[in-house]
Amino acid sequence: MKKEFLSGMIFLLFYCPMLSQDELIINVYNRTATSLNGSWKYIIDPYENGYYNYRYEPFDQQETPWASAFFLNSKPKNDSDLIEYDFETSDSINVPGDWNSQKPELLYYEGTLWYMKSFNFKASDALARQFVYFEASNYKTEVYLNGKKLGVHIGGFTPFNFEITNIIKETSNFLVVKVDNKRLKEGIPTLNTDWWNYGGLTRDVKIIETASNFIKDYSIQLSPDDSNKINGYVTLNGNDISNKKVQLKISELGIEKELITNNEGHVSFEIITNDIEYWSLENPVLYNVTITTNEESVTDQIGFRTITTKGSQILLNDKPVYLKGISIHEESPLRDGRGYSEEDAEQLLDWAQELGCNYVRLAHYPHNEHMVRLADQKGILIWEENPVYWTISWDNKDTYKNAENQLSELITRDKNRSSVIIWSMANETPNVPARNQFLSKLASFARSKDNTRLISAALEQKNYQGNPLVRTIDDPFADEVDVLSFNQYIGWYDGLPEKCETITWIIKQDKPVLISEFGAGAKHGLHGDKGVRWTEEFQEDLYIKTLNMIDGIEKVQGFSPWILVDFRSPRRVLPKIQDGWNRKGLISDDGKKKKAFFVLQDFYEKKKHP
Ligand code: GCU
Repeated sequence: MKKEFLSGMIFLLFYCPMLSQDELIINVYNRTATSLNGSWKYIIDPYENGYYNYRYEPFDQQETPWASAFFLNSKPKNDSDLIEYDFETSDSINVPGDWNSQKPELLYYEGTLWYMKSFNFKASDALARQFVYFEASNYKTEVYLNGKKLGVHIGGFTPFNFEITNIIKETSNFLVVKVDNKRLKEGIPTLNTDWWNYGGLTRDVKIIETASNFIKDYSIQLSPDDSNKINGYVTLNGNDISNKKVQLKISELGIEKELITNNEGHVSFEIITNDIEYWSLENPVLYNVTITTNEESVTDQIGFRTITTKGSQILLNDKPVYLKGISIHEESPLRDGRGYSEEDAEQLLDWAQELGCNYVRLAHYPHNEHMVRLADQKGILIWEENPVYWTISWDNKDTYKNAENQLSELITRDKNRSSVIIWSMANETPNVPARNQFLSKLASFARSKDNTRLISAALEQKNYQGNPLVRTIDDPFADEVDVLSFNQYIGWYDGLPEKCETITWIIKQDKPVLISEFGAGAKHGLHGDKGVRWTEEFQEDLYIKTLNMIDGIEKVQGFSPWILVDFRSPRRVLPKIQDGWNRKGLISDDGKKKKAFFVLQDFYEKKKHP
């Protein structure tokens, strides 16, 4: 009995099958990190033969998993051993980077792919704990280090980390990662989207080192209702975190505040100061904010500004602002596939500023952290979005938890970024009771995590009292958002561009209005009469007529046309025009500007600030 009990306990210690990820570590940008980027080995595993035995039982739930379990990175012990895989002699793939754009045979691949990275590791003397940190991995990720399961993460666009302190060694570590990008009805997003399902370790992977009792989380923001007050909190993680001294220092403001954590290692604070130079579009001032304990110190670059609404105005530092925007998908402008680098972000934001934008909508999921950190530095406002897209499984409790977890990870990562002003809950979701409850709960959750930003969602417009020439927003969620946003495609999906001249709008909500999408497809270089769809002239005409219509809609405080650059989508299959690309970009997939780019640029040039 005793022996069985003991082996049972060893089993439990050894295999914690359904570990979720540890609580997310904030601001890894400025922490001691060892990159694991570079060449990894990989095995394509559509039947998940490296994960399940022939009875479809997961190897990592077994007391003594078979050698054929890929996470063991098995090697034959003698000439007669039967091992039917070998990472070392398998092909290599780069991390970060989606697999679709790296291997022609993987362009359309949806399924499991295994990664393996072997590495040595020299810990920093002063720091005692190590975590493996993934900036993103699409979609379901299971992580193993040296044959031990660390945990599972679900969601393709937000960071996660697992502690490896007692597992990592100085030499011969092997990190095995199973990534499965199959689309799921109960997923977030669900089965159908209008973007490419790029799979894999799409962003950086690194080892983060921290003190034994480290600074896990903090929020340091200007109070929304007092622009002379900085408030927030610091949370520690470790075994000795209660009644600990925490120093908050903002040298340029002459602030040095001593704080003491409570029994849970948490402390909130308020600091009154009249000397702040507010972060603004013209002057995006960032302060070095340093948090120090007796074990470690972390510095962040934080801008202080307020973003509020008053009637139908959006106020940045109490001054009305008009959001001259553009929507962006996370595709690299420099190579094929998902964007992930600072250079990718630089190019996309440079194009947006060349267009005359002061605002970008990062559709339809959280983009990489470079985008928001660069926007902080450049003075560009940002809409970030949770991938609750189209018709997800509103009644499924796990689906809600998944959506909430992804939103939580996004807010944890970006809640100190001054450029981020809007958290968007969803895009083009149906007005049905289950969705209304789902989004209402999600919005309350977002506000509980961060009460300093505005909540919105890309809603849909409809005929007013059945009249197709009068449009309105009739959606209960419109009563819950701070900013009323909606997509409209009059002239593309709904009639032709001249229809814009026949439509009037009735918007009853006393809120700022953003038009989160409009646009038309055009193949760069295809020219003809403006009545010919897919020509640049058609798209140009749609922009001219739509901008005239929008300029006449009361309460509109800005918009973000669809979209900056053509992007891959399996839905777009018209030969010689789309060929697997959505052509609504103002710039082609090979970086060439279309005529409509200059129409919008001219409009923004002439748009006087309110
Ligand atoms: C929708 C949707 C986008 C899509 C666009 C289009 O509004 O939000 O994700 O790409 O329309 O049809 O091109």
